Amino acid sequence: MTLGVNIDHIAVLREARKINDPDPLMALAVCAQNGADQITIHLREDRRHIHDEDAQRIIDASPLPVNLECSIDPAIIDIVCSLRPHRATLVPEKREEVTTEGGLDVSGQFESILNAINKLNAHEIEVSLFIDPTIEAVETSERLGAQWVELHTGSYANLYAMRHSALPHSHHAIESLRLPRHELDERIQKAYGDIVDSANLGRSLGLKVAAGHGLNYQNIASIVTIDTIEELNIGQSIIARSVFTGLATAVRDMKKLCQR
Ligand code: PXP
Repeated sequence: MTLGVNIDHIAVLREARKINDPDPLMALAVCAQNGADQITIHLREDRRHIHDEDAQRIIDASPLPVNLECSIDPAIIDIVCSLRPHRATLVPEKREEVTTEGGLDVSGQFESILNAINKLNAHEIEVSLFIDPTIEAVETSERLGAQWVELHTGSYANLYAMRHSALPHSHHAIESLRLPRHELDERIQKAYGDIVDSANLGRSLGLKVAAGHGLNYQNIASIVTIDTIEELNIGQSIIARSVFTGLATAVRDMKKLCQR
């Protein structure tokens, strides 16, 4: 299974001081030398971490393919077309969210997503749709003509953390921490089953299937066994670990866990 390393959080640290250190560009060689297969960045509408110049420099310098996450806003799509990443992953975006909280509404926004895909494909940029792991979303993604789907693993990851960690995983999780363990186990099984079913369906429809969000060194194990998933995109847990181990070790350790 291939590994895309999301390096947005290096820019998050830089933006905490609004200076030029640390430079996300410095991560490219380290990721490439330690087993990463792809670099992932998110050019958000509010430019809260990665800026246009970062995206340009990263795409120009990266020894690995660059997967650029972006919204379907036509102005952003025009910028992405001119940046020419290897792949664009279309994600829903809300200004007030701390991270991408759910998948794209592929049915409700069918026409706008179709326009974005056609424009990107015309610029020889392959397109992935970040969707919730549901049968309907996968089927609609296939009808939209996307090359990839990326399945949102956030629900699975949140439930896993509630079950296995003594600390609240996220602000969403606090209430559900009071759920009995057997109920959490059932919910994890359901969330995991949704990912398996969606990945299998995606593959059978001819889509390439990625997954990501909230994956870490613990919860990745059962995801790696899903052989219809080709790629994982992981950011937070790798960059968090790198504070203590260095980025080289953090990437290498995650890549080892991606081996089937
Ligand atoms: N995939 C997509 C589409 C994302 O939006 C994100 C978060 O930016 C990730 C993967 C990585 O998520 P995390 O940082 O939780 O590993």
